[in-house]
Amino acid sequence: MTRILGIETSCDETSAAVLSGGGDTVALESLVILSQDVHRIFGGVVPEIASRAHLAAIQPVVDRALSEAGAQVDAVAVTNAPGLVGALLVGVSYAKAFAFARGIPVIGVHHMEGHLFATALEHPDAVPPFTALLVSGGHTLLLDVEAWGSYRLLGRTRDDAAGEAFDKVAKLLGLPYPGGPHVERLAAESDAGALRFARPMVRRDQRVGDPDFYDVSFSGLKTAVLNATKAASSDAERGAIARAFQDALIDTLVEKTGRAVRQFGRARVVLGGGVACNRTLVAAMEERFAERGVRVFAPSARLATDNAAMIARAGLFHLERGERSPLDLNAFASQPIPGLVAA
Ligand code: KG4
Ligand code: ZN
Repeated sequence: MTRILGIETSCDETSAAVLSGGGDTVALESLVILSQDVHRIFGGVVPEIASRAHLAAIQPVVDRALSEAGAQVDAVAVTNAPGLVGALLVGVSYAKAFAFARGIPVIGVHHMEGHLFATALEHPDAVPPFTALLVSGGHTLLLDVEAWGSYRLLGRTRDDAAGEAFDKVAKLLGLPYPGGPHVERLAAESDAGALRFARPMVRRDQRVGDPDFYDVSFSGLKTAVLNATKAASSDAERGAIARAFQDALIDTLVEKTGRAVRQFGRARVVLGGGVACNRTLVAAMEERFAERGVRVFAPSARLATDNAAMIARAGLFHLERGERSPLDLNAFASQPIPGLVAA
């Protein structure tokens, strides 16, 4: 059994967690997440402010996670890509110093691989093989996961990430940042009426192998929303826009995920990333796959958004394979997810 400390500082959450166990049998002993509220004032994450806030928070956040877990750790896992480099460097530097001082190994973790592992922390059956849809503020990835560490990248966004689209639409509708939950709430209490936006990149004649069979694109949808908001004058009209936007985005994600489930014959769909907090998205996935007996797994809000528990879990997997990071481990703004196999 290994006891591992996870550290996550890639964006605007300073998080630390302690996890113990081995293989797919693990126990979460502590999880501390400190969200940096300061960015709300600016309507988006300000990188330098994020780095400084991580620097102020990292020590107390780690201390709290360790004291809640109440025992020493054998290893440290830290997000080292992708993300804001200045923010990542705070966690990476801290993790390396922590590991060096204790003579224990450190392992760098890809943030999106962390999101893949998040759901398994709550659902023991959310393990490979499965189809995965990762939808966050910075990424939209559709993957076929044959085994942990073996990822077939099927599709991604050509422009805006799903969460980014929610945030930009929220801004257009005069809703606060981050916009996802606000758009979801407004959409839930609204009727699209006659308003309907085209489903981006979804056509019947697309076939496996076409570059746009699995990819998504949300910038056109965002422009459609922009034009509709210019013409809108009432709250009801703005509600209809939120609803029509969310319907189009969800339909697109469900269709692309359905194609992957069909092609690879998977019996499980795992959702991850902040947009997986969207109950309407999860319900639409469940409805789509119910009759085929395909199970849909989504993490709770606490594990869907950025957290260190998922980083500890992915780090544990790599440690158990004998991997270690050197003490010159660096931080990278972008990097492909490790373990990619040919699509
Ligand atoms: O994974 P995450 O916490 O951070 C990144 O790694 O980006 O995702 C944050 C994103 C934001 O864009 C936020 O608006 C979106 O997740 N989000 C939602 C909901 N809750 C959070 N989007 C749609 N519906 C929600 N309920
Ligand atoms: Zn994330």
